[in-house]
Amino acid sequence: MININENFLNLQDSYLFSTIAKKVSEFQKNNPNKKIIKLGIGDVTRPIVPEVLKAMHKAIDELGNIETFRGYGPEQGYDFLKNKISEFDYAKRGVTISPDEIFVSDGAKCDCGNIGDILGEDNIVAITDPVYPVYLDTNVMAGRSGKYNNKTGKYENIIYIPATAENNFIPEFPNKVPDMIYLCFPNNPTGTTLSKSELKKWVDYAKENKALILFDSAYEAFISDEDVPHTIYEIDGAKEVAIEFRSFSKTAGFTGVRCAYTVVPKELIAYTKSGEKIELNSLWNRRHGTKFNGVSYPVQRAAEAIYSDEGQRQIKENIMYYMNNAKIIKEGLQDAGFTVYGGVNAPYIWLKVPEGLTSWEFFDKLLNEVNVVGTPGVGFGPSGEGYFRLTAFGTKENTIEAIERIKNMN
Ligand code: MLT
Repeated sequence: MININENFLNLQDSYLFSTIAKKVSEFQKNNPNKKIIKLGIGDVTRPIVPEVLKAMHKAIDELGNIETFRGYGPEQGYDFLKNKISEFDYAKRGVTISPDEIFVSDGAKCDCGNIGDILGEDNIVAITDPVYPVYLDTNVMAGRSGKYNNKTGKYENIIYIPATAENNFIPEFPNKVPDMIYLCFPNNPTGTTLSKSELKKWVDYAKENKALILFDSAYEAFISDEDVPHTIYEIDGAKEVAIEFRSFSKTAGFTGVRCAYTVVPKELIAYTKSGEKIELNSLWNRRHGTKFNGVSYPVQRAAEAIYSDEGQRQIKENIMYYMNNAKIIKEGLQDAGFTVYGGVNAPYIWLKVPEGLTSWEFFDKLLNEVNVVGTPGVGFGPSGEGYFRLTAFGTKENTIEAIERIKNMN
C-alpha cells in the first residue's frame, strides 16, 4: 500500500494566492462586465527591458547554430552570471562572495522551500509574523511544524515572532531559542525594513545560539534609505550564520522568466546530531546538482544583461515606476484616513482595515463593492489579522483608479 507524506494533511486550505485567484475568478465569472483591478499577488506588469530582451534573443539564436549550441549547463549556474552577481551585488557593497558560493536557480520561492532538504527534521523553526507564507508551509510539509491549533491560528512547534505596528515591525528574540530563523527584509508583506544595527543583533543572536538565518532579500532593489542593508553579508559575521535568497523576479520583471540565486557561504556550518561540523555549501551543492539541471542558457544570458550599464538604467526606471505607484497608494490611502505602513523601501503597502472588519471581510468588501483585489493580512500569519496588503506592481493608471475607488467606497 502506498503511503502519503501525512505532513501535507497539516496544511491549512490552499496556498494563499491560489485561494485569492479562485475567489477573483468566481467573482469575474458572475460579474463579467466589471473591471477588476488586481493589486493582490506581487506580480509585475512592466515588460522586460530592451537590453535584457536583446541578450535573450541573441542567446536563443546561439542555440540554433551548430557552432554555438549548448546542451546542459552547470547546475549551479554559468560563471558569466555568477561573476556578475559576485561583483555587482556583493563586491560593490564591500562584501566578498565568491562565485562558488552562488547557486543560480529558477526562483527564490523554490529555494526557500528546497533549502529544508539539507536541514534536520528536528530543527526548531522561527518565522516572523506576518510573513511570506512559503517559509511556514514548506516546514509544515517537511514535518517541522507539529499540529495546527484552530484557536490560536498557529502550529504548535513553530515559533512566531511578531513584527507588527506595536513593536515598530522590529522582531524581538523569542523566549525559546530556534535553530532556523526566517527573516525577510524588506519585508513581504509589511514593506518595512531592518536597519543595520537591528539586523546585527540577529546575526549576533544566531552566532551565540548556533542557529541559521534564512534571509530573503528578494526586494532589496527597492531600498532607497541609506541605513537599510541590501544584503545580510553587510553585517560582520553574517557569513558564518546566514543563507541569502535573491530573485530577479521583481528586480527585472522575471516573474514569468524565472531566475534567482541563493548564496551559501563557505564559512557557514551546521552540525550532525553528534556535534560534527558540516559545511552547508557542499551539502547544498550536492542537493542542487542532484535535483536540478540548471536555469536555461537564454535566461541566464538575460539575467547577465541586467548588470550592464544600460540594463541597470532600464531596470531602475521600472523600479522607480513601481515606487511611484507605492507613493500614490500610500498617500491616497492616508488621505482617505487609513493607517498605512511600508511603501518606501519596498513595493508593498500594509494598511489597517477599518474597525470591525476582519482582513478577509475587507478583501470581500473591496472585491464586491469596488472590484479591487488585495491580499488579506491574516494570510501572512495570525499577526496579520486586521491588516491588508496592496502591491505597487500594477500599472500607474490602474493604481490611480484603484485608490480613487477605495477613497469613494462607503
Ligand atoms: C507575493 O505576492 O507575495 C509574491 O509575489 C509571491 C511570490 O513572490 O512568490
